[in-house]
Amino acid sequence: MEKIIFATSNEGKMKEIRMILSDLPVKVVSLKEAGIQTEIVEDGKTFEENAIIKATTISKLTNTLVLADDSGLEVDYINKEPGVYSARYMGEETSYAVKNQSIIDRLKDAKGKERSARFVCVIAAAFPDGRVLTTRGTIEGEIGYEEKGGNGFGYDPILYVPEFQMTTAQMSSEMKNKISHRGKALELMKKELIKELGME
Ligand code: IMP
Repeated sequence: MEKIIFATSNEGKMKEIRMILSDLPVKVVSLKEAGIQTEIVEDGKTFEENAIIKATTISKLTNTLVLADDSGLEVDYINKEPGVYSARYMGEETSYAVKNQSIIDRLKDAKGKERSARFVCVIAAAFPDGRVLTTRGTIEGEIGYEEKGGNGFGYDPILYVPEFQMTTAQMSSEMKNKISHRGKALELMKKELIKELGME
């Protein structure tokens, strides 16, 4: 059976990834399970670049098929900030209550469609022969006028999704998982892997 390493140490992500890829004849292991400890500098300018940096670094180290993800919030009115700096925006230690309020404040003159924003997730696959593939999933929404909802994490309370008339922090985790940027990118990657690994 093919072994795939998913380059994350986040157990929550591993659970979601294992669930989505469970019908493939592959064993998905985390960095920890693969016994890898390494610092990767995510200095890419795009989600694609960062996901590729992570996947190729580990793939070269292990000579294995490696998947990695990078995600964040893109707000159109402020030139797609915080983007790849979503975790680092205003400093890693700053609370999301403060980060979220800062984004709301920066959009004080933005109305209606000008408030468009999305969560983006890019998954990269790095093959031992050097080939690289990426897939991208999004949740399209608008920045709300105040934080709403107590579920989720990070920027969830400010991404209002018109389709469901609620923020992603007002969704149950089951609902968010069904429509999530990561879920969509993973489903697309699953289709790519089925083609690439000849599992059709
Ligand atoms: P990571 O690259 O998946 O670790 O995510 C980077 C950052 O993007 C997180 O620390 C959050 O600030 C933000 N982010 C990504 N996905 C979500 C989400 O589903 N909800 C809220 N914030 C998110």
